[in-house]
Amino acid sequence: MTISPSDQLDTDRLAESRAIARVETYETLSSTQDRAHEVARSGAVGPLPLLIVAEEQTAGRGRGANRWWTGRGSLAFSLLFDPAGWQLSRQPLPERSLAVGVAIVETVRPLLAGYAVGLHWPNDVFVSGKKLAGILIDVLPSGQHIVGIGLNVNNTLHGAPGDVRARAVSLCELSGRTFDRTTLLLELLRNLEAAVRESAAAPEEFGSRFQDLCLQIGQELTIEVGGQCSVGRCAGIAADGALLLETLRGREKFYSGVLR
Ligand code: BTN
Repeated sequence: MTISPSDQLDTDRLAESRAIARVETYETLSSTQDRAHEVARSGAVGPLPLLIVAEEQTAGRGRGANRWWTGRGSLAFSLLFDPAGWQLSRQPLPERSLAVGVAIVETVRPLLAGYAVGLHWPNDVFVSGKKLAGILIDVLPSGQHIVGIGLNVNNTLHGAPGDVRARAVSLCELSGRTFDRTTLLLELLRNLEAAVRESAAAPEEFGSRFQDLCLQIGQELTIEVGGQCSVGRCAGIAADGALLLETLRGREKFYSGVLR
């Protein structure tokens, strides 16, 4: 699919957003996440939140050793912000990436009538068994956060590596139409700030949405933590962000790990 000129991101509209203080846009970048780290390290961070968006990433990365393939027409961006600027804790909190996941679900759900859009622990948004968006949160020693999001929007997965093609999907493939990515990004930024704030203000209440949106409930999952695998039936996601598994030892909570 070719992306029409009208699908260009509108930098002026982004810059006007009250959700951010500044924006950097790039045609090609290794990784918006790495660029955000570079800015943070420079000592001249400037006003935050800083939004960094790229049309293409040559080395987009995900959790652990994962790579993120950035299809043309998708959204790939990182938001560098200081939670203290929103009067929130600077501690790394497992539920924060799920709160960002809730924000993504809320943003795309109205565009995908008839589809069950939900959370796939630990940090993905899935639809129809496929990955629509990935989230990567890096917390810096200063407490500043970098939230990186890759969201498949107007791209098809045809040009993607085989493993990505088999497991990922885009909004346009599901709905048969294309979307104004600037509008989508602005809505997502608003929802993201609101979700992070609400999750901090009312963790139990907000966290109950993780359970409602968890798409893995009832599935048998294998999780690897520190080289050790545990198998169990998924009972959902706790309000504190933990994956709940019914294993032979009873109900166990996992705050980190890799699903196998
Ligand atoms: C994952 O699936 O494990 C998380 C993927 C996160 C990808 C986004 S794309 C924008 C930002 N820049 C990166 O290099 N990664 C994140």
